[in-house]
Amino acid sequence: MKVILYMAPTVNGFIAKEDDDTTWVTETEWESYSGMIKKAGNMIIGRRTYEIMLKNDEFNRSQFNQIKTVVVTDDASLQVHNPEFIFTAKSPREALGILRNQGFETIMVCGGGGLNASFLKEGLVNEIYLDIEPVIFGKGIRLFAEGDFETKLELLEVKNLSKNEIQLYYKIIK
Ligand SMILES: NC(=O)c1ccc[n+]([C@@H]2O[C@H](COP(=O)([O-])OP(=O)(O)OC[C@H]3O[C@@H](n4cnc5c(N)ncnc54)[C@H](OP(=O)(O)O)[C@@H]3O)[C@@H](O)[C@H]2O)c1
Repeated sequence: MKVILYMAPTVNGFIAKEDDDTTWVTETEWESYSGMIKKAGNMIIGRRTYEIMLKNDEFNRSQFNQIKTVVVTDDASLQVHNPEFIFTAKSPREALGILRNQGFETIMVCGGGGLNASFLKEGLVNEIYLDIEPVIFGKGIRLFAEGDFETKLELLEVKNLSKNEIQLYYKIIK
């Protein structure tokens, strides 16, 4: 099983503004990101990202309705909008177990920053894709929430997504 974390940060490592605005993410990036999620057929997201995606009608707009999605949350009472495809898990390990039991070999971890930090802290990620968006802002939500962890990476590939955007592809050194 391979666990891939895929995100679109700013040059200075934010994934959203303080008010959760991500409209600065380009269409090219979104196509790459959503394309990989569709290919894998699954994603794991944090509870905040799930609620924002619901509010923005992202499951319909991005054709994610058939993507097996696990929402990580401590809130046992969270009701998901499409229980045939969306599940909840109390921890990153439980989320991986749900998707592994459904036969997935490649599992996508798709933010936000709190969830990303949880996965790194537990050493559960194998590879990271970062699409660096050509923007800097002073405040926002970090790619990885603050925490006590350190992860070393090996750079596997750098490619241009567009004239203005690069994609960094890393393997995590275990
Ligand atoms: N640019 C990008 O590529 C990108 C991609 C995805 C998201 N985003 C943005 O990122 C922002 C959200 O990030 P965020 O850091 O605020 O929130 P988040 O990571 O989406 O969600 C945080 C929540 O996930 C749950 N969680 C995380 N780790 C857990 C653990 N170990 N055990 C149990 N539950 C756990 C908790 O839910 P409970 O509080 O319910 O327990 C926690 O409050 C949004 O603005 C979103 O749009 C950007």
